[in-house]
Order: sequence, then C-alpha cells, then structure tokens
Amino acid sequence: MDKLKRQITEHGVVVSDQVLKLDALLNHQIDPQLTMEMGRQFAERFRDSEVTRVVTVESSGIAVAFATAYELGVPLVFARRKKTLLAEPDMLCERVPSFTKGIVTDILISREFLSPDDRVLFIDDIIANGDAARGLVKIIERSGAELVGAGIVVEKCFQPGASSLREQGVRLESLVRIASLADGRITFAD
Ligand code: G4P
Ligand code: NA
Ligand code: NA
Repeated sequence: MDKLKRQITEHGVVVSDQVLKLDALLNHQIDPQLTMEMGRQFAERFRDSEVTRVVTVESSGIAVAFATAYELGVPLVFARRKKTLLAEPDMLCERVPSFTKGIVTDILISREFLSPDDRVLFIDDIIANGDAARGLVKIIERSGAELVGAGIVVEKCFQPGASSLREQGVRLESLVRIASLADGRITFAD
C-alpha cells in the first residue's frame, strides 16, 4: 500500500511521540478510492478464512470495514459505543478505556448480529494500546463466534496493542506499520 504510505507521509500530523493525527484520511475525511483499495487488500488476505461477518467499533473503523465487507460479500456489524445504564440481556457489552479521549466507554453488540455460527473478521483503523480491540475480542468470544483474524490499517508498533493480540493467537494483518513518531518524524517499520 504505497499510496497509503504516501498519504500518511503527506497528511499525517505528528502530535506527540505517541499520537499521529490522521484526520485527512481516516478520522475526519475519507478518500473513497483509497478506502476501497484497503478493503480489497484485507479481503485478499482473508479470502480463504470463510468470513461470515466483518466487525468493527464505531466510528472511524466503519469505512474500511465497510469496504472489506463489500469485497467479501458479507455484512458489516459495528459495535456501538454508549453508556449502559441497565444490564441489557440481548447485548454483549465490554467496558474499555479510550487512549486518545481519556475516557471510559462501553462497547456493545446485539446478540442478534453475532452468533456461534459466525466466522468474524475484526477491522479497525488504528491499533495503539489495543483496549478497544481487546474488548471486542471478548465480545466475540462470549458470542460463541470464531475470530478468524484482525485487519488494521495503521499499526503503531511501539505500543503494545498489536503484539498483545498476536500473543493471544490472533492473526493480525496491518497495511502500514509505524515504528516510531520520535523527533516529530514518522518512521515506518520495514
Ligand atoms: P485501540 O488500540 O484498540 O484503538 O485502543 P486505544 O485505547 O489504544 O485507542 C483508543 C482510540 O484512540 C481509538 O479510537 C484509536 O483509533 C485512537 N488512536 C490511538 N492512537 C492514535 C493515533 O496515534 N492517531 C489517531 N488518529 N488515533 C489514535 P476510538 O476511540 O476507537 O475512536 P474513533 O476514532 O473510532 O471514533
Ligand atoms: Na477506531
Ligand atoms: Na480512532
């Protein structure tokens, strides 16, 4: 994904050693052609996994998850983020901290849209500490569905999310790997 790397180099803003602002292509504006290309990449990598549903968390993961689901010909389910006031028996729920926002939210998926027959591909825009991803993995486990893998657009290798998922045995594929944001510079891995 050379075009993706070029876009990140051109439009990414290094906010700190930890955070890369990607509003121009992932978190505020979306390039439809580039996003559909990301979907084709993930679909190609997971073509043989017999995926029945693509799952993401609202909101920034939805576009690329849609592109992937479209290419695989399966539905996209996006976990909702909201405060759960009462226990909702039809909902699978996990509480997750959010790294950039400094808050805790609940992510929820209705049992109606995730069943033990499902083979799930998790798609997301960025992985940092992996809190959202870990929450979603727990929800998928509790639904009885099988997680066949994770497709992540931008993997920040210097934060523990991606490696902790791989250590859990999740097949994690990323399109771009960032080794460091030190000195205000984006350094790609490989
Ligand atoms: P994660 O690794 O599972 O995403 O969890 P983490 O708690 O580390 O990150 C929480 C949120 O912060 C996620 O967005 C994630 O995409 C975003 N994030 C983490 N690092 C960066 C970064 O360097 N740049 C940008 N642009 N975002 C980052 P979210 O809470 O799921 O919100 P949304 O964007 O999906 O609405
Ligand atoms: Na996200
Ligand atoms: Na995000």
